[in-house]
Amino acid sequence: MLLRNVLLSLSRSQGLQDLIVALPVARRVSRRFVAGETLDEAIAAVQRVNALGLMATLNYLGESVTSESDAIAGRDAYLEALEAIVSAGLDSHISIKLTQLGLDLGEDFCYENVERIVAYAAERGRFVRIDMEDSSYTQRTLDLYRRLRRSYDNVGVVIQAYLYRSRADVEALIEEGIAHIRLCKGAYAEPPSIAYPARRDVDENLLRLVWMMLAPEARERGAYPAIATHDERIISRVRAYVYHHRVPVDAYEFQMLYGVRRDAQQRLADEGYRMRVYIPYGTHWYPYFMRRLAERPANLLFFLRALLER
Ligand code: FDA
Repeated sequence: MLLRNVLLSLSRSQGLQDLIVALPVARRVSRRFVAGETLDEAIAAVQRVNALGLMATLNYLGESVTSESDAIAGRDAYLEALEAIVSAGLDSHISIKLTQLGLDLGEDFCYENVERIVAYAAERGRFVRIDMEDSSYTQRTLDLYRRLRRSYDNVGVVIQAYLYRSRADVEALIEEGIAHIRLCKGAYAEPPSIAYPARRDVDENLLRLVWMMLAPEARERGAYPAIATHDERIISRVRAYVYHHRVPVDAYEFQMLYGVRRDAQQRLADEGYRMRVYIPYGTHWYPYFMRRLAERPANLLFFLRALLER
């Protein structure tokens, strides 16, 4: 837990970022989790994943932009990604981050950027997922999501099971008929005043949120959970639940990250479950990479060994 928090706080350090991204070995190791720096490489990764029977969601790496021009560049990168997905006929959503599109610069400014993306995707029959960032953005992200849902239905959001508030958020979104939600454990460092400190409690809450969304009344109101985890124990509990409750296979999906547990991704897809892979690309891979190291000490050891062997 301590190591996780240290790595997560380092993920915000500009100094370390400058140091790490300049190291060829770091770039090489990061490629385990990142499809490449260019859109062409990302599209090739989606093609490979689709060919194996898995769906995708493409994420152009970037967060916490501090200038309007960077936010607009992020928006344009997503429009370009959507165009490429459509013209290659790929089975892929896109996943965006609000701080990448100017949330820190103003809610209306951010909304305009996101709306351009969502409208563009809607015209092309594509879906946009809004990733969830740290807890200082939770309410603003949900507000912006609700505002979008007044005009668009090709957009969904993410809820993090480690937050105490998530149960009430999921309940409200189900009630409002807009529960198109990716459920995950949560990847940021949050204090015990707002988030479960114990892994077991996070896991139990994640399952509780899944059960809420898979209940027949919730599904009747349009709830559709994307269960985003690599945790074998959670996946088997979900599999048992859907089997016993006869939940149709198209009422939910599993999601995993590019480069993490590829064997499990393939196995679930081969067994007929909907499986979507989150595929990030771009040059701003440092904070994303650090969060992946924080999730698993073995990844950090692998990285440190690669650094020493350089
Ligand atoms: P857990 O961390 O308990 O891991 C279970 C097992 O999975 C591990 O024992 C290991 O085998 C494997 N594993 C997990 N992470 C690994 C890694 N990095 N490298 C190698 N093996 C690993 N978070 C967030 O706050 N906002 C968001 O929008 C999203 N979006 C998102 C999309 C998708 C598709 C996924 C899969 C995850 C996210 N997350 C996220 C991240 C999520 O909150 C969480 O941090 C990670 O998924 C790790 O948690 P697990 O549920 O996999 O379990």
